[in-house]
Amino acid sequence: MSVLIKGGRVVTAADDYVADVYVEGERISLIGESLDVQADRVVDASGKYLFPGCVDPHTHLDMPFGGTVTIDDVESGQTAAAAGGTTCHVDFVIQPKGATFAEALEEWRGKANGKQVIDMGYHMAVTDLKEGGSLEELAGLPDQGITSYKLFMAYKGALMVDDETLFRTMEVAAETGALVMVHAENGDAIDVLVKKALSEGKTDPVWHARTRPPETEGEATNRAIQLARVAGCALYVVHVSCAESVEPIQLAREKGWNVHGETCTQYFFVDETFLERPDFEGAKYVYTPPPRAKANQGVLWNAVRTDTLSVISTDHCAFLWDGQKTLGRDDFSKIPNGGPGLENRLHMIHEFGVRAGRISMNRMVELLCTNPAKLFGLYPRKGTIAVGSDADIVVFDPEKRHTITAAAHHSKVDYNLFEGTEVTGSPELVLLRGSVLVEGDEVVARPGIGQFVERARFGDELRPAAAHAHR
Ligand code: URP
Ligand code: ZN
Ligand code: ZN
Repeated sequence: MSVLIKGGRVVTAADDYVADVYVEGERISLIGESLDVQADRVVDASGKYLFPGCVDPHTHLDMPFGGTVTIDDVESGQTAAAAGGTTCHVDFVIQPKGATFAEALEEWRGKANGKQVIDMGYHMAVTDLKEGGSLEELAGLPDQGITSYKLFMAYKGALMVDDETLFRTMEVAAETGALVMVHAENGDAIDVLVKKALSEGKTDPVWHARTRPPETEGEATNRAIQLARVAGCALYVVHVSCAESVEPIQLAREKGWNVHGETCTQYFFVDETFLERPDFEGAKYVYTPPPRAKANQGVLWNAVRTDTLSVISTDHCAFLWDGQKTLGRDDFSKIPNGGPGLENRLHMIHEFGVRAGRISMNRMVELLCTNPAKLFGLYPRKGTIAVGSDADIVVFDPEKRHTITAAAHHSKVDYNLFEGTEVTGSPELVLLRGSVLVEGDEVVARPGIGQFVERARFGDELRPAAAHAHR
């Protein structure tokens, strides 16, 4: 199968030009002016933008959490992703306590096999180095294409690890070249605040935010940065939500330390007052870290503009409002933590980032495609439009008007964080390795088309020779 996309405006992290793009099989094989080639399909992309397929490095599909399981499995979550122009994501394998990493990986692969609509990789969330996986086994994961370890510094009694586990994992990462990802909040302090609030009869959703103050995020971010320096590993701080955690990341980067950060779409748009919405509607916005005071939104736009934060992900972790969020109707601490967003990242960042003049179109591509691909070992196969790259291409119509609603979205979740938002600009055609995933508003690809991708180590060339010898 070959596809010739004619006259589109090719936008990568670095370039912006009008060209024809010729796709042969799964790869881009030619880019040029007025290409004279035969193709099975010719697409007229004049007036349209061509973006690389977006890469979402932070999602939770089919994940048991908070006494239930996320409503989107691999098929529904990836269908939503495809509709929004995301062609590759990296999901989290959560090591069940007492299980080896191999067992965890096998379980997670079983959830995805045959259901994949887009390409995917895995991070390994380490929860237990005592009874479950060993340090040796952890060290072997990068050879299997799992090149990032995730640790939760919060969710006490569930996913949270102690500093010993965090630091030992960092030491392994320094040896193997894996990237350490942290959910940075002080879980012990938050646990005290939650118990105190509940004992005082404070049970409404808004207490989710009030018991997780931004200082607890700032403290954990700084702790993780300092421990990563001692261990000598690369660090990636997920879902940064506030000035208190932006600041230590900014300082670290100014000093040239190997520290990277992401924020997520929702933190630019949803603030803490959403949690006060009556009739339990506030529960829709219970995710962690919580929506913050509105002043943080400007801080985050500035941070993504100046590369203090290098990625915008979704942290898609969807629970039904009616039936799952309601588990916490009488106790905010029992509301499953997480929100949806996999389908609307490009819509929202194009509208309120690019069209509103906050970031350039190149920077948007860098934040949504190129940097996630580079940091997570997928570049240049993914994350750009170039000869030899996978033909993961979004033909984006900058004039197409789209209203974001739960009624029309592809996720199984019964609400949308951005309900009713009108945007101008939407994907019109999405290709995954040369096959059509999305045509107009319809996801036409069949499950099974997506593949697992083995990821390379981040920044291999920067690592000392001794670490290379170890592998
Ligand atoms: O509330 C959230 N973010 N749920 C997903 C798990 C996590 O902390 O990323
Ligand atoms: Zn988290
Ligand atoms: Zn997450």
